[in-house]
Amino acid sequence: MLEKLRQEFEKKFGAHGDVRAYFAPGRVNLIGEHTDYNGGHVFPCALTIGTYAIARKRDDNKLRFYSMNFDKMGIVDTDLDDLTPYKAAGWTNYPKGVIWAFEKRGMKLPAGLDVLIYGNIPNGSGLSSSASLEVLTGIMLKDMFGFDVSMVDIALIGQYSENNYNGCNCGIMDQFASAMGKKDNAIFLDTNTLEYEYAPVVLEDAKIVIVNSKVKHSLVDSAYNDRRNECETALKELQEVIDIKTLGDLTEEEFEAHKDAIKSEIRQRRAKHAVYENQRAIKAVAALKAGDIETFGKLMNASHVSLRDDYEVSCKEIDILVDLAWAIDGVVGSRITGGGFGGCTVSIVKNDAVDNFVSTIDAKYEEKVGHKAEIYVVDIGEGAHVLN
Ligand code: GLA
Repeated sequence: MLEKLRQEFEKKFGAHGDVRAYFAPGRVNLIGEHTDYNGGHVFPCALTIGTYAIARKRDDNKLRFYSMNFDKMGIVDTDLDDLTPYKAAGWTNYPKGVIWAFEKRGMKLPAGLDVLIYGNIPNGSGLSSSASLEVLTGIMLKDMFGFDVSMVDIALIGQYSENNYNGCNCGIMDQFASAMGKKDNAIFLDTNTLEYEYAPVVLEDAKIVIVNSKVKHSLVDSAYNDRRNECETALKELQEVIDIKTLGDLTEEEFEAHKDAIKSEIRQRRAKHAVYENQRAIKAVAALKAGDIETFGKLMNASHVSLRDDYEVSCKEIDILVDLAWAIDGVVGSRITGGGFGGCTVSIVKNDAVDNFVSTIDAKYEEKVGHKAEIYVVDIGEGAHVLN
């Protein structure tokens, strides 16, 4: 694969000089959804699919980008002196945003770059292709120019650029998982303090299966930002009656005792999800550590119900996938994963049930929805790294 990407790079940009290669993975979140901007815990892991870059320094200020996934756009030319985002720049607004965010932190690029990108995360699937592109750009800049920046900082810079350059008010989970992932481990991250711990995901007799609904509803970004605002308002209302910094500070009991301070029924449900989901993530990791994957699975199912009914970020197609999964013998747990309104589900499926899971979901989803789902039995991979 790498050889093929290098050949493509040479075709586009010529064969001279020090050509380097980088990889940053996508992620799947096992539990702890829509908690990362509420001071809660998340439990994502890096995948083995992700985004690759082949790159070389230039001796002028030009930035030249080419993506094999958007080959019709051809080479997109820009300049270090012109880092403003604009719509026609398409996908290149992600690497440009990261270069801009490095400059904001005082790390100005001394020269431009030629960059070829290739990604194998299915487009729009909610498996963090944009976060992987941001983190990829971060390690590329660190390695090429010797910037003194940690992997956690690269994740934070990626999030900063997504928030302030690309206009999506996301939390830290996706960039953190892509930068800090570890093979066969999920990351138990406290998004309030950025303290984290790796937890081995040793599923002796089960697999992680992702099902891509192949739908992405258009309200994603605006609805995501709406949820954030609702939670922020609910937090302010609660702060009138209890001394907390984030919704993640509350236990279920404390929430129930004070929830009447939240003046709208919708905001109460949003905040309830944030509080309970954080507690579910904490309990799920404890269960996994104790080897109790049944409890882990039940918490995943409860997470789905809460995201569907209280947080309202699921959709018809995803609910169909989850209902189908719940009805299959050998499914330990199944839920929507990621931002929502389409995208993917994540399920834990016993080894001897995987074949039946795949054929049942494949046939019944198409029958009910009218198009096929895509199903991936996945491995947990390493975080972003230099490939040379
Ligand atoms: C998107 C965001 C993340 C997180 C999830 C929901 O993936 O980028 O920061 O909020 O949604 O858990």
